[in-house]
Amino acid sequence: MSAADPDPPSRSWAVFLSLGGLLVAALVIVLPFLEGFLGELATSPWGNFLGRFHPLALHLPIGMLLLVILMEFGKMFRVDKGSSTQGPIFLTAGSAVVALVFGLLLQHSRPGEYDEVLLDRHLWWGVVFTCLLIAAFVTKVWVDWAGGEGNFLYLLVLLASAVAMTMASHDGGSMTHGKKFLTEAAPPEVREWLGLDEEESEPEELVPPAERDVFADLVMPIFEAKCNSCHGEEKQKGKLRMDSYAALLAGGKEGASIEPGSAFDSNIIFRIELPPDDEEVMPPEGKKPITEDELRVIKWWLDSGAPEKQRLAEAEVPEEVGAAIARLDEAAGEATGPPDSPASDENEDEASPLPDL
Ligand code: HEC
Repeated sequence: MSAADPDPPSRSWAVFLSLGGLLVAALVIVLPFLEGFLGELATSPWGNFLGRFHPLALHLPIGMLLLVILMEFGKMFRVDKGSSTQGPIFLTAGSAVVALVFGLLLQHSRPGEYDEVLLDRHLWWGVVFTCLLIAAFVTKVWVDWAGGEGNFLYLLVLLASAVAMTMASHDGGSMTHGKKFLTEAAPPEVREWLGLDEEESEPEELVPPAERDVFADLVMPIFEAKCNSCHGEEKQKGKLRMDSYAALLAGGKEGASIEPGSAFDSNIIFRIELPPDDEEVMPPEGKKPITEDELRVIKWWLDSGAPEKQRLAEAEVPEEVGAAIARLDEAAGEATGPPDSPASDENEDEASPLPDL
């Protein structure tokens, strides 16, 4: 096909570029795992500053890839074959590496700032995107070396990069603008087509205080907020899921994660109460830790036998647990009851505080 370059590059130069590409790709894959290193870098003044350029920098590879694809399309339909896109795709891949490094700096300079699941997916699609661009460059080097033979392979890798780019930017957009940024502005026909209104027509009803279930309405929301990004449907770190009662009992690699009747013997409490700098503390360093009020509620639930179903109104709620629940409600911005503890109000007559120890 294209014999654009007057002097075909030498074989050893092509080998050199390929090895370089391979090395950079390997670094790009390993880098996200070097959390300690990234953490230190990201909290240094320059790292912290440069991270903020991620949203700016990421537009370079996006724009350049689209340009390269347009150039290749142009060449398909023109007699004059134009010059090789080897240079432009090199710059595209290079700018993607820079955007990725800035992104990692941003992530580590603002721990807990972004939705974990989205962040993780965004990061890995970003890595895939960058590696595909590097692969596209290396492919192009060899296609040029072969005088244009096998150009369809290059086109294929370019298209795959465009797909990965779409995936990465979709999650990136959701993270910064919220998941509904696009769809909330969609015209009714589009919303209907996407089935959006059905989903949203069931507003989350506030559970009246007396109806609340200790496990489902008090304990589980804490796990949802602090644990299930790693121990839920999407990820099961340590082979542990925490998104259902059965899963908690089943536990993970280390066995059951809860011991009904004893917070002290429950693995989740053991992990939560490890010193903050312990490698095994949960949630891991850098994530939003469990607050004292949350811990109090979880421990109380475990100590009182970890019932799967028990209405709050029927539970014996010690005063300090009631106060903790009230503060958590307040923090969640849900006015679900009178300002003082909804629980202790409900069952003043039956609630006996914890036995004095
Ligand atoms: C950012 C991800 C992340 C979050 C959030 C997280 N964990 Fe973990 N968790 C892990 C990883 C990784 C492991 C496996 C390594 C280990 O055992 O330390 C693990 C393991 C565990 C284990 C041991 C499971 C087993 O049987 O081996 C328990 C218990 C646990 N986590 C509890 C929790 C609790 C409770 C929370 C919420 C307060 C939480 N985790 C939040 C990443 C996370």
